[in-house]
Amino acid sequence: MRTQGQVLRQLLPWLWPAGRGDLKLRVILALCSLVVAKLFAVTAPFLYKAATDNLAAEPDALGAGWQLPQWLLVPIALVVAYGVMRIAMQGFAQLRDGLFAKVGNHAQKEIAVATFRHLHAQSLQFHLNRRTGGMARVIDRGVKGIDFLLRFSLFSVIPTLIEIVMVGAIFWVKFGPLFAVVTVVTVAAYVWFTFRLTEWRVGIRRRMNDSDNDANVKAVDSLLNFETVKYFNNEDHETGRYRKSMTRYSDAAVRSQTSLALLNTGQVVVTSVGLMALMGLTAQGVMAGDYTIGDFVLVNAFLIQLFVPLGLLGTVYREIKQSLTDMEELFGLMARNKDVLDSPNAQPLVIKGGAIKFDHVNFAYSSDRPILHDVNFEVAAGHTLALVGPSGAGKSTISRLLFRFYDVTQGAITIDGQDLRDVTQDSLRQAIGIVPQDTVLFNDTIGYNIRYGNPAAAEGEIAHAANLASIDRFIAELPDGYDSMVGERGLKLSGGEKQRVAIARTLLKDPPILILDEATSALDTATERDIQGALDRVSENRTALIIAHRLSTVIHADKIIVLEKGRIVETGTHDELLAENGLYAHMWQSQQRNDGPSLGRTAVN
Ligand SMILES: Nc1ncnc2c1ncn2[C@@H]1O[C@H](COP(=O)(O)OP(=O)(O)OP(=O)(O)O)[C@@H](O)[C@H]1O
Ligand SMILES: [Mg+2]
Repeated sequence: MRTQGQVLRQLLPWLWPAGRGDLKLRVILALCSLVVAKLFAVTAPFLYKAATDNLAAEPDALGAGWQLPQWLLVPIALVVAYGVMRIAMQGFAQLRDGLFAKVGNHAQKEIAVATFRHLHAQSLQFHLNRRTGGMARVIDRGVKGIDFLLRFSLFSVIPTLIEIVMVGAIFWVKFGPLFAVVTVVTVAAYVWFTFRLTEWRVGIRRRMNDSDNDANVKAVDSLLNFETVKYFNNEDHETGRYRKSMTRYSDAAVRSQTSLALLNTGQVVVTSVGLMALMGLTAQGVMAGDYTIGDFVLVNAFLIQLFVPLGLLGTVYREIKQSLTDMEELFGLMARNKDVLDSPNAQPLVIKGGAIKFDHVNFAYSSDRPILHDVNFEVAAGHTLALVGPSGAGKSTISRLLFRFYDVTQGAITIDGQDLRDVTQDSLRQAIGIVPQDTVLFNDTIGYNIRYGNPAAAEGEIAHAANLASIDRFIAELPDGYDSMVGERGLKLSGGEKQRVAIARTLLKDPPILILDEATSALDTATERDIQGALDRVSENRTALIIAHRLSTVIHADKIIVLEKGRIVETGTHDELLAENGLYAHMWQSQQRNDGPSLGRTAVN
C-alpha cells in the first residue's frame, strides 16, 4: 500500500516532464499568476474599507452644496478601484488555469498510456487472473482522479492556504495577535473536523467504489457472454445478479450522501462561530473607538472571502482523498512487477534454422497441480513435429511455454541453443507465429485483422496471404470486402472463417518458427485439404509444431509425439507409431473407423 504522500510524489515528475521546457515554463507562469491573483485578493478589501471610512467620515457634509462635493469622488474612485481589483484577481486566476491546462492534460495522457503499455507487458497469467472491465475502470478512474487532484489541489487548496497566511499576517499587524489566533484556530478547527469526518466517509466511498466496480464487471461479463446467456435462458439469473450488485452500490451511495449532509452542517457551524467571534471583537473595538467602521467592514470582507473557498474545501478534500485512492490503485497497477522478465543481459534471439529443444521440462501453472512431467524432445531446424494426444494432455501448454508466456518450473527450452530465459521476449515472439486453438479477432475489419500479422504489409501481400488461407473467395463475396467488420471478438464470422483469418494473419507474419494449434479443426474436410496444402508448403522450409486431433493431418510430420497427462508416451513417425500398436495406433484406428475425430475431441469455437 502506498501512502498518499507517496502517491503525490509519484505524480510530481509527470507535471515537470523532462525535455519539455514549454510545459515547465507553463508551470512557473501558472504559479506566478496564482500568487499575483492572491495579492489582488487581499488588497481589494482594503479599498472597500477606505471607501467605507470615507463615506462614514463626513456624514454632516451631505446637502452642504449643489455641486458634486470633492469628498464623494474619493469613495467612488475607491469603489471603482475595488471592482477593478476583483476583476484582476479573477483574471489572473483564469490565466493560471489556462496556463496549467496543457500541463495537467499532458500528464494524464502520459500516465494513461504508460499504464496501458504496462498492462500489455504483463504476463498471460496476470491477465487470466484479472478482469478486463475492472482494469479499464481503474485506469479511467485513476486518470480522472489526477485531473481532479490537479484542478482542485493546485487551484483551490494551495491558493486558499496562501490566502489564510496573508490574512493571518494582515490581522496580526493591523488588529493584534488575538485576531490572527482566532482566524487560525477557526480554520484549524474547520480542517480538523473536515478531515475527521472525511476519513470516516472514505470507508463508505470505498465500499461504494467496490460495488460499482463489481456491478460493472458483472454487466460487461454478462453482456460479452450474451450468446451463452441465451443458450441457457438465464436472462433472469443475470439480471438478478446485476440487481444485487446495483443494490449494494445504491445502499452505499445513500450512506455516502447522508453523511455528506452531516459534514456540511458541521462546517457551517465552525465557520459561523469563528465569524461571530471576530466580528464581535471588531464591533467592540469600533464602539471603544479603536477601530473605524471601515475596519468592521474590512474584517467581514476578509472572512467572507476566506470562508467561501474554505466551504468548498470540504468537498475538495473529500474528492482529493478519493482521487488519491483512485490514483493509488492506478499507480499500484503500474508498479506491479512482471512475472516473466527479460534477464538483465538478455540478447536478441538469433535464428539459425530454428531448432527447438525441450530439455527435461517440468511445468505447473500453480504449484499444487503439475501439468508437464519430464517433457524431453527436439525438433531439428526446418523439421515438422506433430503433437497429438487427449484433451488436457498439455499440448497447448507446450506452445505457450515456447512463447515464454510462462517460465518452466524445471529443465530448459532452447531455440538454436539459446535458452529462452536468456533472450529478449520481443525477439523471441518475433520469431514464432501461431494459429491459436481458439482465435479471437479484434472488433474491426477483416483487413485489419489479417494485417495484424504484419502492420507494414502491402495490399498485395495481404491478398496473397488471404489466398493461401483460402479466405480470399469468401472476402470477395462480402459486400464490403476487406472492410467488413467482424463483430466483437470476431463473432460475426463462422468458426472456420475465423480460423482462416488467423491462418492468413500468421502467414503474413512469415515467422521462422510456426505453431499450428488445431489450426484447421473448424474446417470441413475439403477446405481443410485446400489449406493443408498451403500449410504444408509454408512449413516446408521452417520449423513447425503442429498440434492436431485429426491424425490424418499429421501423417507427414517428420516426428510425432504422443502426449498423455503431461508425459510423452510415444515418439516416432506415423508408420513407426502404427507398428508400435500403442495409444497412437488406437487413436488412428478409432478415427479411421469413425472417419472423423474422436478421441478426446474438444469442441473448438
Ligand atoms: N492458465 C492456466 N492455469 C491453470 N491451469 C491451466 C491453465 N491453462 C491450462 N491449464 C490446465 O493445463 C492442462 C493442459 O492444458 P492444455 O491447454 O495444454 O491442454 P491441451 O492438450 O491443449 O488440450 P486440448 O486438446 O483440449 O486443447 C489442462 O488440464 C488445463 O486445465
Ligand atoms: Mg489445446
